[in-house]
Amino acid sequence: MMQTKQLYFQNKINDPAIKEAASYIQSGEVVAFPTETVYGLGADATNNAAIKKIFQAKGRPADNPLIVHVAERKQMVALVEEYPTYVDELMKVFSPGPITYVLKSNGTVANLVTAGLETVGIRMPSHPAARALLMAANRPVAAPSANLSGKPSPTNATHVKEDMDGKIAAILDGGAANVGVESTVIDCTGEYPVILRHGGVTAAQINEVIQVETKQIKASNKPKSPGVKYKHYMPDVPLILVNDVTKLQEIIQTEQAKNKRVGALVSDQTAEKIKADKIYRYGKDEQEIARNLYNNLRQMQVKDVDIVYAEKITANTIGYAVLDRLQRAADSII
Ligand code: TXA
Ligand code: MG
Repeated sequence: MMQTKQLYFQNKINDPAIKEAASYIQSGEVVAFPTETVYGLGADATNNAAIKKIFQAKGRPADNPLIVHVAERKQMVALVEEYPTYVDELMKVFSPGPITYVLKSNGTVANLVTAGLETVGIRMPSHPAARALLMAANRPVAAPSANLSGKPSPTNATHVKEDMDGKIAAILDGGAANVGVESTVIDCTGEYPVILRHGGVTAAQINEVIQVETKQIKASNKPKSPGVKYKHYMPDVPLILVNDVTKLQEIIQTEQAKNKRVGALVSDQTAEKIKADKIYRYGKDEQEIARNLYNNLRQMQVKDVDIVYAEKITANTIGYAVLDRLQRAADSII
């Protein structure tokens, strides 16, 4: 066990919290920091020993590569081979922001970062604390989401503390993450970009810049984005995703008849009509649903419920990313 320092981002010039967090990164330690999507678990992307500590703290499988975070385009260019011109077009519109570009690595990042792949995922976060930390550390920072492997991603410093206290040097608290789901991962090694993971930037937004394909990622046979084959985002109790909301009340009652305490994750509209042992609310629109999602999943605890049934949401924008995470979090879909 190590003492995990709590640092508070104040968004000011020469912020002492940023200075201290950056010094940990520079000395090869791991620091959790806020981004606009979720909190990240950061370490020097050029230092293999530091990267190893990330994998240990998370309990992450070694074949799942990390995203490298940079403050400026030129830091990205320093890490990769020549890339297609559409990357710069996309960057002009979406970076800084919740999008990760998978590009050919030039071998500068530590080999543990890429898990032996020839590519590296790079992202320029927009959160002011992330940007300040990256500037102060003055190097690329590799960071997966700051949760224990398999658990829902953290969207505030309390979530990070639950999973990482005693395991990392420091947590930089910058308040709640605004987007709430991770970045869109987009393969930019081919003639056209391909979405590997839905996220904060939607396929429709990308399509306005350049035609993008979404690769159906299956849990089996060598997915191009290794992380998607693992069980993810699991709450502490079983979660069942229900396609037909009109069946929800009946399903809940059947379970309650078996002496189970049943939770329901539902829209405000459904919450008006439904009776359950505990109601978890999605929020009012797709943005809010995304922002609340991981906190909702983390609130599903054995002390309150034995099982939770989730209403399927309709997805038009960031809801696609939410649905993707719900499907991965769910024990089954009925
Ligand atoms: O919003 C985010 O992306 C957050 C914040 C902290 O930046 N990070 C994040 O990292 O979600 P992580 O490690 O939880 O998820 C990274 C995903 C994984 O599915 C991983 O397999 C994929 O990106 N990935 C990373 N490098 C890749 C590469 N070179 N090729 C394909 N997929 C890659
Ligand atoms: Mg993650």
